[in-house]
Amino acid sequence: MNEFQAIILAAGKGTRMKSEQAKVLHDVVGKPMIGHVVDAALAAGATRVVAVLGHQIEDVTAWLKVRYGNTVKVARQDEQRGTGHAIWSARQWLQEDAPPCTLILSGDVPNLSSNSISDFVERSSDSTMGLITATLSDPARYGRIVRNASNEVARIVEYKDATPNELQINEVNAGIYLVRSDFLLAALKTLCDSPPDNEAGEYYLTDVVEMAAQTGSVFPFAIADAAEVSGVNTRVDLAKAEAYARLRINTHWMESGVTLKDPENTYIGADALLEFDVTLHPGVMVDGRSVVGSGTVIESGCVIRDSTIGKHTHIKPHSVITDSTVGDSTDIGPFAHIRPDSHVGNHCKVGNFVEIKKTTLQDGAKASHLTYLGDAVVGEKANIGAGTITCNYDGKSKHQTVIGQGAFIGSNSALVAPVTIGDGAYIGAGSVITSDVPAGALGVARGRQQNIENWARRRRAAERT
Ligand code: UD1
Ligand code: CA
Repeated sequence: MNEFQAIILAAGKGTRMKSEQAKVLHDVVGKPMIGHVVDAALAAGATRVVAVLGHQIEDVTAWLKVRYGNTVKVARQDEQRGTGHAIWSARQWLQEDAPPCTLILSGDVPNLSSNSISDFVERSSDSTMGLITATLSDPARYGRIVRNASNEVARIVEYKDATPNELQINEVNAGIYLVRSDFLLAALKTLCDSPPDNEAGEYYLTDVVEMAAQTGSVFPFAIADAAEVSGVNTRVDLAKAEAYARLRINTHWMESGVTLKDPENTYIGADALLEFDVTLHPGVMVDGRSVVGSGTVIESGCVIRDSTIGKHTHIKPHSVITDSTVGDSTDIGPFAHIRPDSHVGNHCKVGNFVEIKKTTLQDGAKASHLTYLGDAVVGEKANIGAGTITCNYDGKSKHQTVIGQGAFIGSNSALVAPVTIGDGAYIGAGSVITSDVPAGALGVARGRQQNIENWARRRRAAERT
């Protein structure tokens, strides 16, 4: 296979999305569309990736930088004068040490797999130009493939320029090409040298196909599953692309040994990883760079985002875990909220209506009910009683609470940070703890109980007079 680079067309406005956000930054299964395209190009072996950007170039560039650093280059197309002009705007990458072939992809075609790209590149690399085609019962507004008398590809006619006869053609252009880089540069120079001659007044990249047919050879690669090359132009297309991608991802995980109780209603992000024997119940979302260990069960309504969950852990319904880690054989929820930078160890319990934030629970620690722990470290096997609150915020800054191993915090205690509870210490229920409690001590800080004998009878007597 020839070495190749990828150029991704993504300068267009995406008017029909009716959005303030750049079209290619719209999300499909937890990743912007352009991310899917870049990842597929890299996985297929592109040695360099160039994105042609125009509309909202700053937003798109910023996202690409964070995700790919310098791996993805950006070419600027200030005015969108057509797909041919878009590649022309990136011509610098066709001149300087360009690989022999250039793969052209569309930023709004998120579901083309790296396997299909590899096949396509492999089979096109002996031709001047290869292009992906699809045969559709409704060819809609796609460009039509016009073949000559010997059934070879002669040219592409755009929907807007097609005659009624040409509109009958069902074989369409997917907008994905592999071209010899030197030929592409020369052809675009010719194309962009004179004003465009078509309905749209644009420089059509599709005209390069006709030039290749005349001077060399064109290889049409019929894609097996047309859904892979469906472009996204509207929110309806976006939902279709999402549904297709979701089913593909879910099928992959089922084939890898994951049980999905309801695959149509399980949302696994493109970057999530699941080990075998994970079970996901209906309505679960595992998003971002999450990892779920083998044997773990996640019940309905849970949202796991950018988090690592250990093995044989049980996450009960409607729990939310973000940017955190959870160990092995731990019980979470129902209705637990684990907020960013939390670390829950092995054999822990975080029960119902417990919220933790920036908090570490060491192995075997338990907070079973109705608790808030923020900026806290809870030692091994410590037990946090129902209704315990770390008062971590004084209105200006956040302070730490440290709870020693094996400590026992009585129910409904308020721990006013910064404060340290020593190893094995006890806190009496209902205490407001404002200073440190030494290891092994009992801290009690509450009003003493006083019983007033016969109080009810005396009150009734007072009411009568
Ligand atoms: C293009 C093809 C058409 C094909 C279809 C497949 C041309 C002339 N037509 O049509 O044959 O069936 O794709 O989806 O190429 N873009 C730029 N700069 C521009 C214009 C477009 O970067 O000046 C980008 C867009 O952002 C988009 C891609 O190129 O990502 C395709 O452009 P679009 O306007 O959607 O082309 P189509 O009309 O769909
Ligand atoms: Ca399009």
